[in-house]
Amino acid sequence: MSIIEQAAERLEQLRKAGIDVPLVDSNPAQAATPAPAAPAVAPVAAGLATPDAALPQARASAEPGRPSLGGLGKKRSQRVTLDLARLQAAGMVTPDSSNSKIAGEFRVIKRPLLANAQGKGVTPVERGNLIMVTSALAGEGKSFVAVNLAMSIAMEVDSRVLLVDGDVVAPGVMRTLGLTESKGLINLLTTPSLDVGDVLLKTNVERLSILPAGTAHDRASELLASDAMARLLGDLATRYPERIVLFDSPPLLATTESRALASHMGQIVVVIEADRTPKGTVEDALSKLESCPVVMTVLNKAVESELGSYYGYRSGKRS
Ligand SMILES: Nc1ncnc2c1ncn2[C@@H]1O[C@H](COP(=O)(O)OP(=O)(O)OP(=O)(O)O)[C@@H](O)[C@H]1O
Ligand SMILES: [Mg+2]
Repeated sequence: MSIIEQAAERLEQLRKAGIDVPLVDSNPAQAATPAPAAPAVAPVAAGLATPDAALPQARASAEPGRPSLGGLGKKRSQRVTLDLARLQAAGMVTPDSSNSKIAGEFRVIKRPLLANAQGKGVTPVERGNLIMVTSALAGEGKSFVAVNLAMSIAMEVDSRVLLVDGDVVAPGVMRTLGLTESKGLINLLTTPSLDVGDVLLKTNVERLSILPAGTAHDRASELLASDAMARLLGDLATRYPERIVLFDSPPLLATTESRALASHMGQIVVVIEADRTPKGTVEDALSKLESCPVVMTVLNKAVESELGSYYGYRSGKRS
């Protein structure tokens, strides 16, 4: 059975079980219809947007930071300017494109994640504000989904989001946003005197900050699984509990660091590239996440005609 067929079948099972499954189609207004708080299941999809446009390098205006004063949201952080017009032209979510199809799709994706993060879900989710985007294989759209999801969350008036590039070997966040790599996560893990506030980048999207992957390091993968990383994650989860910390990450089946990262997360979004990733591969990837409280799957690069008027797959607690 293809993944698309499986998606359709699973969707049907969920409906029969009385679970309200949001449908995603080209009508943003429909996608925006409020759903019940934090369903354990929320199949969603990210449709095919305009492929990568040549995004400009955004300006990074360095306001010299003062070591160890930092902390999330402190004034010393550097600022970067995202070229929102170009991002929008490339088919991505921006504050000015709230009526676009892609914005509608990401509204559906974020809704249960936010409800869980804000403790409005059916069951409380520990560290629900730590959310990781991953996939079974490389190139399925993790960075694309992470960036669009972060932008979409930042558009909520009562949510702030820190987008962390946790793919320290093949970083994708800065490239996707049209920014130049700068210090970030790896530097925090190798330089104890640095604080998050020293390396995070504030953006011209009011509630969106970015923590880049940081300087390339031979032992980047080991650092991600280190005690220092565990401490940092604990800190990020508790210091500003109202802030969503969204991690882009490496593929689950290629290396072990994504699994190490996943073990600290409250919620995981698994991106599945439509028509490419075989069912067995998806199941293999999901089996690596059994200890994570909430696992949502997103069917990416789906074409509307493949599944009638909606897309979808499965998500929710594995039982
Ligand atoms: N829904 C989409 N519509 C259009 N283009 C997309 C979509 N999703 C991903 N892409 C494009 O597919 C390519 C791969 O996406 P991306 O870099 O996000 O994948 P990835 O899973 O992060 O890859 P890696 O494993 O190498 O980090 C990029 O050029 C991206 O712009
Ligand atoms: Mg990537």
